[in-house]
Amino acid sequence: MGVIERYRDLLPVSEKTPVIDLEEGSTPLIKADPVAEMIGPGYNVWLKCEGLNPTGSFKDRGMTVAVSKAVEEGSSAVACASTGNTSASAAAYAARAKIKCIVVIPEGAIALGKLAQALIHGARVIAIRGNFDDALGIARELTDKYPVKLVNSINPYRIEGQKTASFEICDHLGRAPEYHALPVGNAGNITAYWKGYKEYREKGRTHALPKMLGFQAAGAAPIVEGHVIEHPETLATAIRIGNPASWKQAEEARDESGGLIDKVTDDEIIEAYRLLAGEVGVFVEPASAASVAGILKKAKEGYFRSADEPVPQKRDIVCVLTGHGLKDPDRAIKCVEQPPVVEAKLEDVVREAGL
Ligand code: F0G
Repeated sequence: MGVIERYRDLLPVSEKTPVIDLEEGSTPLIKADPVAEMIGPGYNVWLKCEGLNPTGSFKDRGMTVAVSKAVEEGSSAVACASTGNTSASAAAYAARAKIKCIVVIPEGAIALGKLAQALIHGARVIAIRGNFDDALGIARELTDKYPVKLVNSINPYRIEGQKTASFEICDHLGRAPEYHALPVGNAGNITAYWKGYKEYREKGRTHALPKMLGFQAAGAAPIVEGHVIEHPETLATAIRIGNPASWKQAEEARDESGGLIDKVTDDEIIEAYRLLAGEVGVFVEPASAASVAGILKKAKEGYFRSADEPVPQKRDIVCVLTGHGLKDPDRAIKCVEQPPVVEAKLEDVVREAGL
């Protein structure tokens, strides 16, 4: 069952809405004790593995709602700007809905897996000589002037769908977590999670709200720096964004929840990326590791110090792992030693295996 069917009562859909889905959502929430040990006693760390969605990222939750509503409203084409994942998801759902999909991407700045997805699903992919922020400007103008529906996260249906991840976390834990950490790029996801947590509490399905901890890449941290970044730079290409569309909403989520938005360096991102793969067994794309890099940074700064106080039960920190590691295989290969090549002899293999 996809997120529309599971959470129909909390989504803006009706009997008339055609459900275009790929059975997205219901992703695993797994414990990460090696990370929890680095935070300190008194904490559980949970990983919401959004890379296990049908197209390998959290975007599918929002896209099922956005494309279903576009079809309900009679659209025969959708468009988006993207750092990769939105385009992969839009292309897949558009293919399923049998409508056209137009994708505007920054040239040379999209991870290989994501580009492959958009292309194989049949989207019309156009690379521009500019960055994501330029691409979003063009996608907005295009969809203003032509009969094409914008499916970036400024489309409110995207936020509606993505908020279902908060519902799942609360359903799984039986309560809201104490802290919710996630990477911030265009800031749609932090907006969506916060909306979801608030709605679940209003409905009486939970009684508390988490502190929202957003993390931007240091070279692309406009919210942290307090100004637009003209030339954002980070190896976490998914969040290489200098002027987030939902900037204000991200600040509201931070302030209303008593949380924070901070930055993590590319080195910190890669350290967390390798830790997740090597010690937790979860392969994510670099941007996703920003959530874990962020809580590790805050732990070193003493942010979670109150863990020393006696608490009736461990406090829950949820980190969203937004996209699958296979999205960006080049980055993984660049981070590790290349495998040796030997003669086709057992003794050579045994030697290299270190047995
Ligand atoms: N993580 C991944 C893997 C992403 O692809 C994105 C955004 C984010 C985090 C940040 O989420 O934008 O809601 O704050 N990717 C968009 C895209 C921009 O085009 O795929 P956000």
